[in-house]
Amino acid sequence: MIKTEAELALMAEAGALLASVFDRLGTLTLEGMSTMTINDLVERMIVDELHARPASKGQYDFPYVLNASVDNVVCHGMPSHDDVLRSGQIVNLDITLEKNGYIADSSTTYLVGEVAYPARRLVQAAYYAMWKGIAAVRPGARLGDVGHAIAHYARSQGYSVVKEYGGHGIGREMHEAPHVHHYGRPGSGQVLEAGMVFTIEPMLNQGKAAVRAEPDVWPVYTRDGSLSAQFEHTVAVTRTGVRVLTLRSNEVPLCKVA
Ligand code: CO
Ligand code: CO
Repeated sequence: MIKTEAELALMAEAGALLASVFDRLGTLTLEGMSTMTINDLVERMIVDELHARPASKGQYDFPYVLNASVDNVVCHGMPSHDDVLRSGQIVNLDITLEKNGYIADSSTTYLVGEVAYPARRLVQAAYYAMWKGIAAVRPGARLGDVGHAIAHYARSQGYSVVKEYGGHGIGREMHEAPHVHHYGRPGSGQVLEAGMVFTIEPMLNQGKAAVRAEPDVWPVYTRDGSLSAQFEHTVAVTRTGVRVLTLRSNEVPLCKVA
């Protein structure tokens, strides 16, 4: 679970490539595009331009390179030709990329066209909640500190945090130990050590935290139909704090990062 310096360098390379995919997505006008068109575009970017592997494709028999989760879809949304993005929607694009055997995992919730204030506020709170979690990462801190920072902030903004899905260790495998809850008690849980790499990816709901998922079907919905937003970064615990491996080129870190 502890990565060597050499492994961290490779993971940082995968993270930087994945960040460049999001840099490009940020320049697109998503309104009018189907989520399948975005999927195909991202696949070509990863394979043809970055000479990397879309790690989600084939994992758990998933046929696509990204998850596209629109509005009340919490996570695991499937790209579709029928899902043409309309002004006012929010869409989370969750992408993984493997380079030289190491995987990075990140997501962003995008605003499509003109989005009403309540949805914009939710999306911004989800972004801040992720950073509250990142800011709690340092050697000697515990996973419960990270989860608490996220849930405490989310609640302070009037939102709930999805409990069924969390962040995860990552490296040669997309999902490694530990599981990273987005809620928790300060001072509880596993102690963080330099060299650990994991994702922080809180899902915030406008309404209640409960989700609706059917067995063997991919998308997960909010049970009450309210909107859900999510952001995800892959982070490494350093000797002094935290490093964000999937930081975008134009992204201003909201805490001190290595
Ligand atoms: Co992800
Ligand atoms: Co993840």
